[in-house]
This record gives sequence, C-alpha cells and structure tokens, in this order.
Amino acid sequence: MKYVIKNGSVVFCDGVKRCDILVEDGKIARLAENIDADCEVLDAEGLHVFPGLIDMHVHLREPGFEGKEDIASGSRAAVAGGFTQVCCMPNTNPVCDNAVVVTYIKYRAEQVGLCKVHPIGSITKGEKGDELAEIGKMAEAGAVAISDDGRSVMDSKIMRLAMEYAHGFNLKCLCHCEDENLVDGGVVNEGLNSTITGLKGSIRAAEDIMIAREIALSESLDIPVHICHVSTYSGVEIIRSAKARGVKVTAESCPHYFWLTDDVITGFNTFTKVNPPIREERDRLAVIEGLKDGTLDCIVTDHAPHSSKDKEVEYSLAAFGISGIETSFSLSYTKLVKEGNFSLSELADRMSAAPARILGLEGGEIREGGVADLTIADLAAKYVIDGEKFLSKGKNTPFNGQEVYGRIAYTIVDGAVKYSAN
Ligand code: DOR
Ligand code: ZN
Repeated sequence: MKYVIKNGSVVFCDGVKRCDILVEDGKIARLAENIDADCEVLDAEGLHVFPGLIDMHVHLREPGFEGKEDIASGSRAAVAGGFTQVCCMPNTNPVCDNAVVVTYIKYRAEQVGLCKVHPIGSITKGEKGDELAEIGKMAEAGAVAISDDGRSVMDSKIMRLAMEYAHGFNLKCLCHCEDENLVDGGVVNEGLNSTITGLKGSIRAAEDIMIAREIALSESLDIPVHICHVSTYSGVEIIRSAKARGVKVTAESCPHYFWLTDDVITGFNTFTKVNPPIREERDRLAVIEGLKDGTLDCIVTDHAPHSSKDKEVEYSLAAFGISGIETSFSLSYTKLVKEGNFSLSELADRMSAAPARILGLEGGEIREGGVADLTIADLAAKYVIDGEKFLSKGKNTPFNGQEVYGRIAYTIVDGAVKYSAN
C-alpha cells in the first residue's frame, strides 16, 4: 500500500504547512513540499490534514447494551467523526472488570476493523466501589487505563489502593468525580435554572470535592491521576493550582461543557441531561480558558449513546448522556478556533497529541516514520447538526439545528481510508 496525500495543509504541533505526505505500509514514509512518487494520489487541495483524532472517553455499550450502541456502530460513528482511536469505558453488562471482557472488546473491534479501540477496565468489581477489579490481568489483556466512569469510587481507601496497584502496571486511574451523597439524586446543575424548572440540582462542590480528593491522593502517593469531564470553574481552578505545584494530574473536558449553559434545561429537552451536569456561563468560560492554558489537557466526547426509550421520558427519569462522537471535531473547531483564539496546532494537541501522551498511545502527531493515522477535514464546509443523521445508534444530541464549520473528509487508520465523506 503506497499513495501520496497531495496539496493539503498539514497541522503540525508547531504550525500549519503546505506539504505532501507519502504513506507506505501504514506509516508516514516521507513529508516534503512536493512528492512525485509513482503511485496513487489522494488530493487534499483545500483540506487540512490533522494527526488522527483520539477520543480517550467513549461509551460503546457492548457487551450488554447493544440497543444503545455496539462496537460496530460506535466504530462507524467514530471514523465518521474523524477519530482513529477511541478508549471505551467499562460500564457495560457485564462490566469490563476482568480480562475476558477486555479480550472480547479488542477481538470484536479488530473484526469490525475501522478505528483502534482500547478498552478501559473498571477500578472495582462491577463498578460497585467496594472491591478492586482484576487490574493486573486486565493490563496484561490490553486495558489502557482503569475507571469506574459513571460514578465515583466513594471509598478513599479503595481509591488509594487502586492508584497504587494500577501504577504498578503503568495504568492510570481516570476519575469520574461526583460525591454521590452530595449529588443526592440531582439531575441538573444547582442554581437559578434548577429552581425555575423544579428539577433537582447537583451542587458544584459534589464534583470539586472528588477532584480535590483524587489530587490529594495523587500528590501524597506521587502517582499520576486523570480527571474526567471537568464541568466547574472551581474544578478547573483546583487542577490549575495542583499543576502549578507539580502534581501529576491531567484532565479533560467535553464540547457540551464549553458550548452550553444550563439555560438549555429550561426547555426540558432530555438530550441536555448529562453527568456531570451542564453548568453556568462562568463555568463554560473557565473550561475554554483551562483548555487554552493546558490546565485541561484534552477534549473528549464522553460519547454516551442512549436509545429513544431511555430519553423519551420525563426529565428526572431520563438517562444521562450525550451522543457526541460525530460532532466533537466541528463543535471544537467552531467554538475554539473559528470563534475563539485557539490555533489549529492547539486544537490538534487537545484532540490527538494530548490523549496519546496521557495514555501512552501510538500516534498523536504527524512525523516521518510515524503511524499513518490521519484525519482530513474541510474547515470551510458549513453544515447544520442533525442527530437523526448520526451513524451512532444514539441520536441524543442537544446540538440539533446548530450550524457548525469543519466537515470530516477522510479518516485514515494505519494508512487505510476508513471513512470518506463522498
Ligand atoms: O452522562 C453520562 N453518561 N456521564 C457518565 O459519566 C456516564 C455516561 C453513560 O454511561 O451514559
Ligand atoms: Zn463520567
């Protein structure tokens, strides 16, 4: 397999250059201004070539919840969204708390053969919070991290043991931060809009307390930790000050936290219901600032597909989650680069290089000799988001009707074109 990607604007970590890319045997064989090789050409005139996007926080729902999504539909949605690698959370049925489920997910993803799928094992058996899962065996089977995502590990001693044990296998804990007692059944942000709607609120402190606890453990033990989907301005500040004194903490946030405020809940659209909840303008701006200055290392989707029966119920009963993998790139490009002050290199860092760094994955940059995982986008193309058109089984997006820029043209994994818009 050999071809040249010609005339594209290539997004490197230190800027954008017009440059041709020779792809050979799944690798980037050469980068040069003008490559005249005797082989096929992929014309990228007018397009931007990014390092393959990596989403380190998705829910693919298989095994067990295939009505919401499965590895095949989730992989199709991922490559349509420009993602070459995804890491899938363990809140499946059975929970991915042992090597057999890790092995099954990897096997199934290889059969599907679209994007690379890296399983995340659970921290505790059944994500129940009281007994450590088979962390070592899952590491050997290929899990890239551990997480009880969807909930916090409430017992601090269990969390400490998990961090120490996982560190021995070079795995990080990815922490969903919400104190369950303080959340107390809250479904939206606690504030003016929870009062107006009568929906039960969840206070920022519920998230912040757990962020602070994970940082305290990480600092005391000198073990790296990663904070999932940060939604509060105060959480961003806790992470910023921890980083300033050298704590090995990394963190992520999602497009819905830097696009939306809880004003959206007043329409009672259950597609706006997500965990942690969408908060206020102050939080939204802090998430953007955190992503800009690197306090928040990366953008993830928390792609959480749900079926219509999970969402077409009253707000307080609806499932938490947003189907996000097909809109993440255009939402991020539009808000952060087109309307904001991010460079394309910064966008590529937050959506590709940073997750690769955090989890030690191959890829994340465009360089000679590197893997040919590439995402080619038409940044001038404008379209209106319509969840009904998603390839994901989850049509649950709060962005229906939103006009955005940046359409994925090609997604290339190990040199093979796995998605093409036309
Ligand atoms: O909104 C959410 N949905 N947040 C999570 O942490 C879990 C996810 C899910 O699994 O649906
Ligand atoms: Zn979560």
